[in-house]
Amino acid sequence: MHNGRKKDSCDRSVTNNPAFENERMFVLPQGSHLLSLMTILRDANTNSTLFAETTERVGDQLIAAAESTNVVSPTGTTYEGIRHMTPVCGVSILRAGASLENAMRRGYTGPLSFGKILIQRDEETCLPTLFYSKFPPNIASQKVIILEPMVATGGSACAAIDVITEKGVPEENIMFVNILASRRGVKSLFNRFPGIRLVTAAVDEDLTSNNHINPGLGDFGDRFYGTN
Ligand code: URA
Repeated sequence: MHNGRKKDSCDRSVTNNPAFENERMFVLPQGSHLLSLMTILRDANTNSTLFAETTERVGDQLIAAAESTNVVSPTGTTYEGIRHMTPVCGVSILRAGASLENAMRRGYTGPLSFGKILIQRDEETCLPTLFYSKFPPNIASQKVIILEPMVATGGSACAAIDVITEKGVPEENIMFVNILASRRGVKSLFNRFPGIRLVTAAVDEDLTSNNHINPGLGDFGDRFYGTN
């Protein structure tokens, strides 16, 4: 898994922000290709077909960044590269997390399995509540990549990690793959689970009064599945 490569200097969503000087968090380099894809996702006028296609393309970048490996080249120099070989279990937080499964299938050549978690907010308590989960039997001995495009308050994300660690997966074997996080969500994730890793394409400063990320990209599941 990604081992703390330094953030790119034009990493503009978190530039000069000491709160993000965290070696377990990797924000994709904010190059023009990624920014053009994120502009499509953020544009309220983007239709569901283009939104889904663009998600696939950002997903490929996230998955590519999720595993780094040092190899020694024939000149004897260490090269920090990317290789997906180890057994990995992708766990989608339904329903939006399933949008990143294809990127995992494309990106991993080693043994791959998928688990699912359905967490929804209980109407009475307002707390994230587990409704369904299914994992491979040997998940405790695998690296786990949690797929969740949006981390707003971090409540569902923390609930999902609770479920996975209760299955015996150490925090150090968990990576969270995310398209857009809020600053508050990132803080709450690392406060609860300092040992996990996080790969994201962008971090936004704000949440709206109904806990949507701002500027954000709206309700991800509705836009991806065309249910808005
Ligand atoms: N989930 C979404 O789909 N969008 C947000 O802005 C926050 C959480």
